[in-house]
Amino acid sequence: MEKLVIRGGRPLQGIVSIGGAKNAAVAILPATIMADGPCVIDNVPDISDVHILLEIMSSMGVVVRKDAPHTYYLDGRGLVSSVIEHEEARRMRASYYFLGAMLSKFGKAAVALPGGCNLGARPIDQHLKAFAALGCETTVDHGMVYCDASHGLKGAHIIFDIVSVGATINAMLAAVKAEGRTVLQSVAKEPHVVDVANILNMMGADIRGAGTDTIKINGVKHLRGVDYAIIPDQIEAGTFIAAAVATGGYVRIDNITPKHLETIVSRIREMGGEITLDEECAYVRRRGPLLATNLRTMPHPGFPTDMVPQATVLLALAEGTSVVQEGIWSNRFRYADELRRMGARFTVDGKTAIISGVDSLSGAPVASTDLRAGAAMVIAGLCAKGVTEVGGLEYIDRGYENFVGKLKALGADIERIDDGTDGGLLVREA
Ligand code: EPZ
Repeated sequence: MEKLVIRGGRPLQGIVSIGGAKNAAVAILPATIMADGPCVIDNVPDISDVHILLEIMSSMGVVVRKDAPHTYYLDGRGLVSSVIEHEEARRMRASYYFLGAMLSKFGKAAVALPGGCNLGARPIDQHLKAFAALGCETTVDHGMVYCDASHGLKGAHIIFDIVSVGATINAMLAAVKAEGRTVLQSVAKEPHVVDVANILNMMGADIRGAGTDTIKINGVKHLRGVDYAIIPDQIEAGTFIAAAVATGGYVRIDNITPKHLETIVSRIREMGGEITLDEECAYVRRRGPLLATNLRTMPHPGFPTDMVPQATVLLALAEGTSVVQEGIWSNRFRYADELRRMGARFTVDGKTAIISGVDSLSGAPVASTDLRAGAAMVIAGLCAKGVTEVGGLEYIDRGYENFVGKLKALGADIERIDDGTDGGLLVREA
């Protein structure tokens, strides 16, 4: 089994460049099948979620050509299938975006229900509510979602019951070619929602209000192929900000969109970070001791749930006690046991964590319970006394391109090795 071996105690120093946003890419790539011509998408992150998505698209008959390390040529005109079976769809969660894209392209779609994940239940009732409002017949049978809009999609006024990134994006994908006007309310406002609206508008859609509480869409007949660059990943940037502050180093973080980082930066400043933003990069260091801070996660522009694990490593080393209230995922704190193995004083009551800072963490073998928890274990290892081994790298590889290489370039003592076991308990060499 592969694992990371980290020797802690070295402050990160140097320059790191942020890649394209995972949560924009997993929606934008499927959206390209809606175009009547080829698209060239740039700043595509080299991560396993993207690899899987491109494999699914290629298997459906989309022409997928890698023109450069982060640039893909995609032509969905030859797409013959509007069905994505279990073994494909369950390989990555966001395969549900094919429902909205294929409804717009074919007027029908069938995609296996996405699996749950370690964060808790991942329902898609709000996605299906939006499709039904647009005139689509949706049924679920044997784990497959079947959508039929053969009589055409018609604009509707949709008020979501819960703010959902996925449902907001999927409703946009389905509505852009629906007949007439669609109004979406109680929508998600994350940067990746706006990025999807931007490429759709470049393709010829008529979407207004993305990034606000209400999105208005006038249906169009055709969408054309475009060249488009995906926005930088706000959570990857936030992860490196947290790592730089946690290790007490000094790091310049390039290729960021400052306005996407305002809340993350303001909360990490409260924890003792000294962060300066200019138009495309952030300068990050720690000005003194880490400070306890209470956090509550909210949909954008609130503090993002995907930054909680990373931020709680800072709080685990802060002076004082912090309370973190998670507003999105029921299992966000699954990693608490792993952090406690490293000496953190971290208690969890449902969706609330109470963290009492300690002077230092100690290295230990730990697992990654989800993508962001994996990144947090690495940050903890970078700060800990001694050696930390981090398993579950399949999670980290889903959302972080060259994570080890970027950290090594910042001076981290980190190696990716194969310990020769079959993935059971971490077995230490004799
Ligand atoms: C997106 O997931 C992200 N994934 C998640 O990031 C992120 O944590 C989440 O948004 C919140 O920001 C991608 O974009 C691929 P939601 P998504 O629909 O769209 C409930 C990462 O680490 N809900 O905004 O699935 C849901 O259970 C990943 O990059 C319904 O009840 O999240 C949750 O409690 C992890 N019914 C809340 O809404 C629905 O139909 C928000 O979920 C849909 C969602």
